[in-house]
Amino acid sequence: MDLEFNAEQEMIRKMVRDFAQKEVAPIAAEIDEQGVVPFENIRKMANLGLLGLIIPEAYDGGGADMISYVIAIEELSKACASTAIVVAVQNSLVAAGIERFGTEEQKQTFLPPLARGEKIGAFALTEPGAGCDASALITTAVRDGDEYVINGRKHFITNGGFADVVVLFAMTDKSQGHRGITAFLVEKGMPGFSPGKEEHKMGIRGTNTSELLFDDLHVPAANRLGEEGQGFKISMVVLDGGRIGVAAQALGIAQAAYEAALEYSKQRTQFGKPICQFQAIQWMLADMATRIEAARLLVYKAALAKESGERFSKEAAMAKLYASETATWVAGRAIQIHGGYGYMKEYPVERNYRDAKITEIYEGTSEVQRMVIARGLLS
Ligand code: CAA
Repeated sequence: MDLEFNAEQEMIRKMVRDFAQKEVAPIAAEIDEQGVVPFENIRKMANLGLLGLIIPEAYDGGGADMISYVIAIEELSKACASTAIVVAVQNSLVAAGIERFGTEEQKQTFLPPLARGEKIGAFALTEPGAGCDASALITTAVRDGDEYVINGRKHFITNGGFADVVVLFAMTDKSQGHRGITAFLVEKGMPGFSPGKEEHKMGIRGTNTSELLFDDLHVPAANRLGEEGQGFKISMVVLDGGRIGVAAQALGIAQAAYEAALEYSKQRTQFGKPICQFQAIQWMLADMATRIEAARLLVYKAALAKESGERFSKEAAMAKLYASETATWVAGRAIQIHGGYGYMKEYPVERNYRDAKITEIYEGTSEVQRMVIARGLLS
């Protein structure tokens, strides 16, 4: 595995780090408190090309590779995990799916505005009764001439409250089980499509997480993504890529918590010396740094596996599983090093801890990742 970064990857790291540290980190606590990523920052990220980073240049995107993408998500997440996931969903769950499975006409229509950040995307798979068991969805799409009529409800949808383009999964033939699921491209403003309630969450509080409601929504057949019955596979393939983004997000959160704890341990004096001089603290720092390094290698390995064009489900699941559990563990250790101060909102490790937890849950829980890994090992 070649871990030398090329000039473009280094340039992207510098650009995103500069932006994230100057424009995002100073307001990360406010984003968490207010529960919203400012539209102004989404616009700035669009201007930097981050909302279309991995979209091909032919569709106005940045044409960046997956290593550049994980670098960007890690750097953004170090500053603010809520801000990072807006970019991750746009790129790896929405645009990547359209690019891989869309017709040329769909790509021409949907990708350029997504790439320029003029439109924001969401990925609507999860339903109240279909979480880990994603194929248990009950939203229906019934063919009616050259349209489909969609009825149902999605929930826990990132960017859902304001998304302009939604990759939606619905059942077109229940008798076929997961082979009866079909994907659609649904647009804001279509009669019958509306956002429902917004969730109030423990972490990534700046991210919009909403219900989506479909009430006799008429979608042109031209907006079907892929073939009828291909939807479940589309969702799985797209989620493989999305999981690398979440792993990179976890990596950024872990790195931020570790750096805060390292710095604090040098400043904080107890028993007459900085606490970093106590072995108890040194061992925590050593374990934190080691786990982060291991997570980083898995994330880069998964990104390279995706670039290879071979199936990378196992690599993505390993990266997400390990990086997300590392993020929660590292953020917990970071609070411990801060002592009582770490439990207070004045210190960012408290937010890091809450933000880390979701990375073990969304885009497939740790238990689902273990299922995917085990199936990869046994296949
Ligand atoms: N690539 C290609 N094909 C795949 C695949 C993949 N990664 N994973 C499965 N498939 C195929 C299988 O080969 C199988 O194909 P056949 O029809 O030819 O047999 C088919 O899909 C069904 O596969 P499984 O039998 O493995 O399906 P399953 O019902 O046992 O489920 C699962 C497997 C891994 C548990 C899956 O349901 C899963 O990933 N669940 C979690 C869903 C998830 O991540 N949800 C998050 C949604 S997004 C989000 O979090 C919020 C947001 O807004 C971002």
